[in-house]
Amino acid sequence: MKTEINRRSVLLGGAGVLAGCSTTGGSTTSSSTSLVGPSDPAVRRVESSRRGTGREQRVSLTAVAARQDLGAGLRAATWTFDGRTAGTPVRMRAGDTLVAAVSNRLPGGSSTSIHWHGVALRNDMDGVAGVTQAAVPSGGDFTYRFIAPDPGTYFFHPHVGVQLDRGLYAPLIVEDPKEPLAYGAEWVVLLDDWIDGVNGTPDDVFAEVRQGMAGSSTKYMLMGATSKLLGGDAGDVSYPYHLVNGGVAADPDVFTAKPGERVRLRMINAGSDTAYRVALSGHRLTITHTDGFPVEPVQVDTVLIGMGERYDVLVTLGDGIFPLVALAEGKDQTGMALVRSGSGRRPATTFRPPELAGSVLQAGLMKAAEQVRLTQAQPDVTHQLKLTGGMDKYDWSVDGQRFDMENPTASPLLIREGQRVRLDFVNETEMWHPMHLHGHTFQIGEAGPRKDTAIVLPRKTLSVVFDADNPGQWLLHCHNTYHGEAGMMALVAYQA
Ligand code: C2O
Ligand code: CU
Repeated sequence: MKTEINRRSVLLGGAGVLAGCSTTGGSTTSSSTSLVGPSDPAVRRVESSRRGTGREQRVSLTAVAARQDLGAGLRAATWTFDGRTAGTPVRMRAGDTLVAAVSNRLPGGSSTSIHWHGVALRNDMDGVAGVTQAAVPSGGDFTYRFIAPDPGTYFFHPHVGVQLDRGLYAPLIVEDPKEPLAYGAEWVVLLDDWIDGVNGTPDDVFAEVRQGMAGSSTKYMLMGATSKLLGGDAGDVSYPYHLVNGGVAADPDVFTAKPGERVRLRMINAGSDTAYRVALSGHRLTITHTDGFPVEPVQVDTVLIGMGERYDVLVTLGDGIFPLVALAEGKDQTGMALVRSGSGRRPATTFRPPELAGSVLQAGLMKAAEQVRLTQAQPDVTHQLKLTGGMDKYDWSVDGQRFDMENPTASPLLIREGQRVRLDFVNETEMWHPMHLHGHTFQIGEAGPRKDTAIVLPRKTLSVVFDADNPGQWLLHCHNTYHGEAGMMALVAYQA
């Protein structure tokens, strides 16, 4: 049954009206529900209740086609912000207002937007084209203005089609004015799987993979890439390069520090189809944060980072030259950067530190630091999401339904402000999915880490909880760019 949805009201109005009609397991339910739209007064009310400093951090970001230097003489025609290397960070302090003037100068009439991944911001600034705002048309401008309430490591990227797999992304570092950690220096480590302008474009990739196994071309599709850590298939797409801070291993980014210095690494996976296993040769890593939020510190040899996840770690540096290696999990390729605190020989570009085979910890086994742990409470509402579909038909979906961006409120997961919400991700597929919720930082289990993106292993269930304290319409999706675009998305909608 096709239902008439008042999409305009979600985009433009206050409380949108949802007249939904969905069929689940043979039973038909009908509802007429009023949703809290992005421009609802509740959104402004919550924003004004945030403890802002009143200070503004202004940036301008112009999306343009440019040639990006990947190092070692490799140049790729791609889309960037201001022609910069993908990944020039934006920094601000918690409580400050980010004022980001975005100009869309992309070619070919391409519209765009910016999503501030992981930030608990006001819903109308979330940057999801077709849900929280109209896409910024080619030639158009849009100014984002919002308080970033929580310190941490975030990033930003467009939320239109598969643009994330181009060069349109960068870290967003929200500094803590009362930083409790002691360290001498910090280094942002941005990971990305790269194809754009080398072998084709992300649109070419999607056009091919969406044909599924029946498709005639296999230029981009990756077969048989498996990983023990990821419990099965590792990825769908084969990439020519894996970049650390915008460069290939043959021309690594070099971070210079002093021996004995304590360094904070802020690691971000901005890739589209690749989890990275990251290690720093000769060092153990002390994990202090996941997705911007503190955890009880834990020492590991290597960290597994899914797309959209961030890990902050502390290391005390030895004396020498140490490769930081990002192994494309299950894909048998690596990216590299270097830490230099003394003299030594530069390793071969294919070097793999033994730490990569050392101890690693699943996110679910970590614990949220006490100050960010959610109080124990019975959930007021539980939504189960079956992760469905597969490579065969490339029909990645939630509950067997591909999300329709043209009709985003067709079958939302309804919640209300003030509720404790539980989400059960039931992965019925043969592949892992990094599930990302906008506008909130959930907690894994009863005392697990606070995160906004969590790896759900194949044939496993993962339960997360969060407090519904940020009214609006929020996307919930797989952060594999191609899975999301194929339809593995849902909408978490606050009811009025
Ligand atoms: Cu980085 Cu909708 O996500
Ligand atoms: Cu997925």
